[in-house]
Amino acid sequence: MRRLSLAFCGSGSRARTYAAIAAGMSDQFALVAAADPVPERVAVIRSHAPAGADFRSFASAEAMFAAGKPADVVVVGTQDAQHRDHAIRAMELGCDLLLEKPIAHRLEDTLAVRDAARRLGRRVVVCHVLRYTPFYARVHALLRAGAIGDIISANFIEGVQPWHQAHSFVRGHWSVEASSSPMILAKSCHDMDLLAWLIDRPCEAVSSHGGLSHFTAARAPAGAPARCTDGCPAAASCLYDAHRYARPEGRRWLAMVHDRAKEASDAEVFDWLRTSPWGRCVYRCDNDVVDHQVIAARFTGQVTATFTMTAFDEGRHLEIFGTEGVLRGGAFVKKQLGCDLTVTRHGWEQPTEKIVVETPAAGYAGHGGGDFGLMSTLHADLTCPDPAAMRTSLEVSLQSHLMAFAAEESRRSSRTVTLAV
Ligand SMILES: NC(=O)c1ccc[n+]([C@@H]2O[C@H](COP(=O)([O-])OP(=O)(O)OC[C@H]3O[C@@H](n4cnc5c(N)ncnc54)[C@H](O)[C@@H]3O)[C@@H](O)[C@H]2O)c1
Repeated sequence: MRRLSLAFCGSGSRARTYAAIAAGMSDQFALVAAADPVPERVAVIRSHAPAGADFRSFASAEAMFAAGKPADVVVVGTQDAQHRDHAIRAMELGCDLLLEKPIAHRLEDTLAVRDAARRLGRRVVVCHVLRYTPFYARVHALLRAGAIGDIISANFIEGVQPWHQAHSFVRGHWSVEASSSPMILAKSCHDMDLLAWLIDRPCEAVSSHGGLSHFTAARAPAGAPARCTDGCPAAASCLYDAHRYARPEGRRWLAMVHDRAKEASDAEVFDWLRTSPWGRCVYRCDNDVVDHQVIAARFTGQVTATFTMTAFDEGRHLEIFGTEGVLRGGAFVKKQLGCDLTVTRHGWEQPTEKIVVETPAAGYAGHGGGDFGLMSTLHADLTCPDPAAMRTSLEVSLQSHLMAFAAEESRRSSRTVTLAV
């Protein structure tokens, strides 16, 4: 088997995850380079390469690309607004890509990445990790096996979870649309990808509504200062008190944005919060992305789907309605019934079948097994003789982005937006 060399463009949270998984697949991948302005982050990627192996460190993606083709495959793990330039530059140097979602943060940039891949004949795998989870793989297999007949409509819900919303979309990297992405793209392009993949039809039209209702100054508790560290009278009862980052549950979130999250004392964390974006009162930030949004979509053949993104629930739920039955699954089913999926066939006395999706004991962590699943098919996708045999491709991933951009256009204009099918 030909080993593929990997270079990391950005060495942050996502890049670290992929590097750690690739390090356990040394028959398939060799980690050869990493770039990031923060040297400690490059050092973490480097620590996954075998001691003494050739490994090049760079202070930026630009410096890495200036030194020539860095590897067979570039893992683009920089922020959304940087994807376009980093992806196109890496492809121009002759690299294939593992490209973090979104492909790019604006429609025209997304199409520019697609055009460059076509022109240069490069393969691009977009990190729509949920496709690779045992859960969604099972849903897909059931639908293709005809478990509920022909799909007529579907209802998907994504509960972002209030703390996650606050961490990422109020205080964090994806809170201001102009410098990141619309929420429906940043968070829900996964759900758009799942809808398109599971329904297996092109989307024709989308309408959408949504807004930012809760994380605004109007909802701030009386007397709340700009920062939790400034002594807030509501701290004891506030779900979002930033001091919670020092607690054991909070450290997991802290690790995504603080390089010393594991070893820092509580006092060091509190000190960091005094100036960090993550120390700000969630009701007094500069956030403008929505905390709730709904979509109604029409696919070819009059198949319809609804989707709700809300900050105020946790986990994904799905219901798919077919001519012969209904498939339900996700967080709600798990909590209420203790299984992952149910299939209820239409008819007077059809029992509901409960399905538990087996998760392999080892190797599955992160995004319900999706991070590992993605990496374990990456080598095959990038080396199979016929690109049409790839599990998913840039052209397929594009569909989800077109749906998300159309939804955002609809939300802003209050008009139904049709997609060129
Ligand atoms: N697939 C998923 O489910 C998923 C989940 C979370 C995030 N993401 C996406 O992954 C991407 C990265 O997110 P993250 O959470 O790892 O962010 P991060 O901020 O932890 O990582 C980005 C890194 O890029 C570095 N960087 C900035 N400018 C650079 C440059 N010029 N050259 C090289 N490095 C540079 C930063 O220092 C940082 O370390 C984002 O686009 C995000 O939307 C995807």
